[in-house]
Amino acid sequence: MKPKIFITRKIAEEFVKPYREHWDVEMWHEEGTTVDRQVLLEKASQADALITMLSDAIDQEVIDAGVNLNVISNLAVGYDNIDVDYAKEKGITVTNTPDVLTETTADLTFSLLMATARRIIEANQYVKEGKWTNWAPFLMAGTDIHHKTIGIVGMGRIGEAIAERARGFNMNILYHNRSRKERAEKEIGATYTSFDELIETSDYVVCMTPLTEDTVDMFNESVFKRMKNSAIFINTSRGGVVNENDLYTALETKEIRAAGLDVFQNEPIGQDHPLLQLENVTALPHIGSASYETRSTMIELCLQNIQQVLAGKEPATPVL
Ligand code: DGY
Repeated sequence: MKPKIFITRKIAEEFVKPYREHWDVEMWHEEGTTVDRQVLLEKASQADALITMLSDAIDQEVIDAGVNLNVISNLAVGYDNIDVDYAKEKGITVTNTPDVLTETTADLTFSLLMATARRIIEANQYVKEGKWTNWAPFLMAGTDIHHKTIGIVGMGRIGEAIAERARGFNMNILYHNRSRKERAEKEIGATYTSFDELIETSDYVVCMTPLTEDTVDMFNESVFKRMKNSAIFINTSRGGVVNENDLYTALETKEIRAAGLDVFQNEPIGQDHPLLQLENVTALPHIGSASYETRSTMIELCLQNIQQVLAGKEPATPVL
């Protein structure tokens, strides 16, 4: 009997073709939609391995259904969608896709920072909607990036890659992290600060911290109040790290200048969400690692991780 693999999204056949000889691979059938919960439970109950998306809640119910499950291979570096402790308790290996998406996610984060600071999306709309009738000195004026202070909260691999980009813009780089990062300090020139100092002195506060019990609502009213009125807040990590009501108030009352958000508490965010009504919000649909090259590499890594676990070997990127 071939091991059964279920993929919770429809992906191109070319990715799975090399594995079909040895595996019985099934995937969610409909392009662009999320797997139906009942289907997920049913497939989990038959599968030896799952490839899951960050939008799938892999909770105790799914894990309990997976009586034959050996491995859950998540197509993301973040794995807050999975009850990892419970999976481990059940002897199931969980893997993610770190490293391969670092540079791509840093590119997107820096693009979002630039787009928010220089109002690029707004300016594009302005031209396309035929509103550009004359040149004016402060037409669509934004704020500078070069030589400003960037504060990165969560200095993991992606944080460091963002810091490298910031160095190219001659920015003053601050970071806060659970532990000091020697490479970031020595090679990139980043300075470690307390969280309080970072939020109070940064022109750009970039949230890169994973969502855990300790980081839920970390960016809340009191934090936004302590930021500069000219500060721009960028989040490409997870929406749950931010209290969205408090962020809305901070933006609406100009407590802070603007926000660039790739992630939200509930995704997809509804069009009528208050945050999306604000001119000083630049919003993206969680596309941090979404380049063709990187997403393809991530899918391949998920498949390789499964191959290793099913062969009784240590996967390349287990969640520790
Ligand atoms: C991840 O992989 O966790 C990122 O959010 C992708 O954009």
